[in-house]
Amino acid sequence: MLYLDSAHQTPLGVTAKVAVEDFLAESFEMAGPKPKWLARVEQVRGGLASFIGASPDEIAYTKNTSEGLNIAANAIDFNAGDNVLLIEGDHPNNAYTWLNLRRKGVEVRFVKLSGEVANAQTFAPYVDCKTRAISLSHVTFHAGQRHDIRSIGQLCKENALYLVVDAMQSVGVLPLDVKDLGVSILAAGCHKGLLVPQGLGFLYVDSSLESLEPVYLATAGLANPPADFIARPDDVALRAGAGRFELGNFNLPGIHALGATLSLLDSIGVDNIEAHVLRLGDRLIEHLDDLRIRLVGPRNATERAHIYTMALSPDWLAYLSENNVRVSPERDGIRISFGIFNDETDVDAVAEIIRKRL
Ligand SMILES: Cc1ncc(COP(=O)(O)O)c(C=O)c1O
Repeated sequence: MLYLDSAHQTPLGVTAKVAVEDFLAESFEMAGPKPKWLARVEQVRGGLASFIGASPDEIAYTKNTSEGLNIAANAIDFNAGDNVLLIEGDHPNNAYTWLNLRRKGVEVRFVKLSGEVANAQTFAPYVDCKTRAISLSHVTFHAGQRHDIRSIGQLCKENALYLVVDAMQSVGVLPLDVKDLGVSILAAGCHKGLLVPQGLGFLYVDSSLESLEPVYLATAGLANPPADFIARPDDVALRAGAGRFELGNFNLPGIHALGATLSLLDSIGVDNIEAHVLRLGDRLIEHLDDLRIRLVGPRNATERAHIYTMALSPDWLAYLSENNVRVSPERDGIRISFGIFNDETDVDAVAEIIRKRL
C-alpha cells in the first residue's frame, strides 16, 4: 500500500504501538499502577507544552479538536450582538462550534479568502467594535493552505481579540510556537502529525486568560478536590491553569502513545519534518506540472505544508485505490498528504500511476 493520506490519519508507528502494548501489559497484570500512570500524564503534559512553546499549566487534555474548540467558544464571555470571524469553507467542526453560539445572539461572519492564504489583511476589514474573536485552521485540510497565523495574531493583539486556532493538521508537521504566533487558544487532536490513535486531543489556553470559565465542571477542574470524595457545595473554586477545563479520567492509552511519539518527533526535529514534507511537495508539483495537472492549493513553499490537492475528477479515487494507493477525495479534487514515513520514491510512484491513466 502506498499510503499518502496522513491528513486523514497516520498509521500507528512502532513507538506508539510499543507504548500502548506496555500500558496494556501493566493494566493486564496489575489493574493499573494508577499513581505511576498519573505521573506519566503530567510528564507527557510537560512534553506537549514544550513541543508548542507553552508551559505545562497552559495545557488541558481533551478528546479531539472539536471538544477543544467548543470549550474555547463557550468559555469566552460573548454578549448578544458580538461577532466572531471565520474563514468561509474552513473545517466544518470549527464552523459549527461557533454557529452554535447564535442561540446566544452571537453573529458568525464568514470571511472569503482573497489570496491563497489568510493573513491580517483578510480579516481587518471585518473587524468592528463588536468583534471578539477570530478562529481558523492553521493548515487547511482540503487544499493545504498554511495561513499566516502570526500576522493574524498581531491583528488580534492590536484589537484585543481572542485568536482561536485549530492546529489539527499542523501540529507535528510544522514547528509551532504559540507565544510567537500570538495564539490565545489552540485546539488539536493527536491522530495525524502526532501519530497517536484517535481519541486524544489537547487544548492550549494562554495563562493570561484565567478569567475564562469552563461550562462543564468535574472534580478534575477544582482547586481543592475533596480527598474523601464528598462534594463541598461551598468550595467550587477552579484549579489554576488550563486544567480547569479537564473532565474526569484520562485517555491513558492515548497519553502513553503520545509520550512515545513526542520523543520520536523531538529526536527527528519538527523543522526537519517540515523541510521533508515541503521537499516531497516540491517534487510532486514538478510531476504535476509535467503531467499538466493543476494544483488546487498554494505553490509557494511558505504557504503550504504536507497537503496537496490535485484537480482530478472523483473517478480517479477508484483508479488509485485499484493501484493500491491510499489518498482522499476532496471538494476540489484528489488529496495527497505526506507523513514522515513517505519519501521521494512514493512521489515518483504515484506520479507514474497517474501518468498511465492520462
Ligand atoms: C482542520 C481540521 N480540524 C478538525 C478535524 C477533526 O476534528 P476532530 O478532531 O474534532 O474530529 C480535522 C480532521 O479530522 C481537520 O482536518
